[in-house]
Amino acid sequence: MKKWYAVIGDPIEHSMSPFMHNLWMTSEGRDATYIPLHVSRESLRASFEGMKVLGCSGFNVTIPHKEAIIPLLDEVDALAEKMGAVNTVVRQADGKYKGYNTDGLGFVRSLEDVVGTSHKQEKVLVLGAGGASRGICFALWQEGYRDITIANRTVEKARAICLEMDPSVKACSLQQASDELGAYGIVIQTTSAGLNHSQFALPISLEHLANTAIVADIVYNPLMTPFLEQSQKQGATVVTGLGMFIHQGALAYEHWTTVYPDAKVVKQSLLEQLGGN
Ligand code: ATR
Repeated sequence: MKKWYAVIGDPIEHSMSPFMHNLWMTSEGRDATYIPLHVSRESLRASFEGMKVLGCSGFNVTIPHKEAIIPLLDEVDALAEKMGAVNTVVRQADGKYKGYNTDGLGFVRSLEDVVGTSHKQEKVLVLGAGGASRGICFALWQEGYRDITIANRTVEKARAICLEMDPSVKACSLQQASDELGAYGIVIQTTSAGLNHSQFALPISLEHLANTAIVADIVYNPLMTPFLEQSQKQGATVVTGLGMFIHQGALAYEHWTTVYPDAKVVKQSLLEQLGGN
């Protein structure tokens, strides 16, 4: 019987996940489909029950359900539990639904796609202390990055993540991050300040950015955020958010099928849709 997968969220109509997963499924000749489902906060439990009855093989979870789905699942992977968020659910052979988080690891894969794996000793600065930052920090640590500083407008939130990680992980203010920016080899922008197209939306001044730095943003629409544009002008190597989107999807696909799909198959098509090159 045809297998079906889904992404649940609210809003959901702009999600590019169905396009990406269907492209992978088609290119591999799988008898499967992936559909977007508009699920409100109020209907999460009932929707999940319905999906189970209808034999959903697996699904992605997006805003606003990444935390709320956890108590409804049969099992949660240890890393996703630490992150406090699930973006991928797998129906196992025993019929139980298990949650994973592929966002953070998806980010690290996309970073290493561009710059390789030889930068693990660099000083890493993560801007922001929301859900995305949390996932990325845990994944960076898991993948061997050992010098991590989290800077946030509300420093307490950065400290809270540090407390759950290792004593060596540091927290600081955005001002301090901006003043000491030259010391960092990798800078990762996870705040929602970048969602505003204005030049004034930069979360920190880039005046002291080293021209050898690697700068990443998790936003992929627009591809070149003001933060990345400014960093590139100053000589930095930039990593757009598109790679993270593709790899979090590829990791989910691997959980469902055991096959890691080819990122390149979808990258060009997604770039065309986003107006990049
Ligand atoms: P997500 O789950 O996508 O990370 P979030 O949990 O809402 O989203 O977190 C948003 C992050 O962007 C937070 O770190 C927030 O800082 P505060 O914790 O101080 O609120 C940060 N942020 C949002 N707007 C910002 C701005 N204009 N300048 C700097 N940081 C901003």
